[in-house]
Amino acid sequence: MVKCITTIEQLHAELNQAYLDHKTIGLVPTMGALHQGHASLIQASSKENDITVVSVFVNPTQFGPNEDFDKYPRTLEADLKLAANNNATIVFAPDIDTLYPSKDPSYLEVLGNVSEVLCAKSRPIHFRGVCTIVAKLFNVVRPTRAYFGQKDAQQVLIIKRMVKDFFIPVELRVMPIIREQDGLALSSRNKYLTNEQRTQALVLSQSLKHVANRFAQGERNVKTLVSEARKIIEQSPIAKIDYVEILALDELEAIDTIENKALMALAVYFGSTRLIDNIILE
Ligand code: PAJ
Repeated sequence: MVKCITTIEQLHAELNQAYLDHKTIGLVPTMGALHQGHASLIQASSKENDITVVSVFVNPTQFGPNEDFDKYPRTLEADLKLAANNNATIVFAPDIDTLYPSKDPSYLEVLGNVSEVLCAKSRPIHFRGVCTIVAKLFNVVRPTRAYFGQKDAQQVLIIKRMVKDFFIPVELRVMPIIREQDGLALSSRNKYLTNEQRTQALVLSQSLKHVANRFAQGERNVKTLVSEARKIIEQSPIAKIDYVEILALDELEAIDTIENKALMALAVYFGSTRLIDNIILE
């Protein structure tokens, strides 16, 4: 059975022998409401490490003032089951005061283009919150490896930069996007969708698939590919596009033509639910 731990002291009591024995520790940071996307990260970690710690923490500092922090799904009982079924060793589910011990929180921020484009435009404090909490979790857990999903492509690039710039001794492992059979990328926020929104949201993966096909056929013009993707998304009368963009990897610079590796990323609202998805074009 998986152990549910809520304090740093308890966590270190559990992990101390593992540190001394140089056991490998995999960390899977999550905000809970676990689904098969999270499960794939937990499985990868438990295959590659002696111990797997899944953190479940809805991190307040990555939510903007008008975002869904309060209504974000909290399903710890079910999360413990999913973690256990995928061979996690420990679920670390601290409260806010444990991870934010000071009245005025300190922040860690990655600067530059990667943290200014795409999601950063509509969520200006989001990545500062993500870096801050992920750095705290790295320091608290001291993992050998940490597992992230390609679903949050910009998050991965920013965390890579943080690890590089601060010499954080952890190996980052990035896992592919897990989708429903019909193509919708799994997300804890899919729970918010009505049946109609859920059906209409299929335009997202359809538009990405279309672009992947056109790219495979040789189309390299960014404007053409983006406008074809937008047309597919706009077939849904309720879809409200936040952004649909193709940017160069790894720095996310704007490009006219795809020469090397590029990221096609999108964020689209269905009602008040904002969904993101992406593919790498290479
Ligand atoms: P959360 O949205 O819970 O996601 C936790 C991890 O699961 C992230 O690395 C995310 O990319 C991955 N994930 C989510 N859906 C996925 C899918 N369909 N396929 C593959 N991986 C998927 O991302 C966060 O939490 C937070 O920002 C966090 C890093 C925990 C910091 O608070």
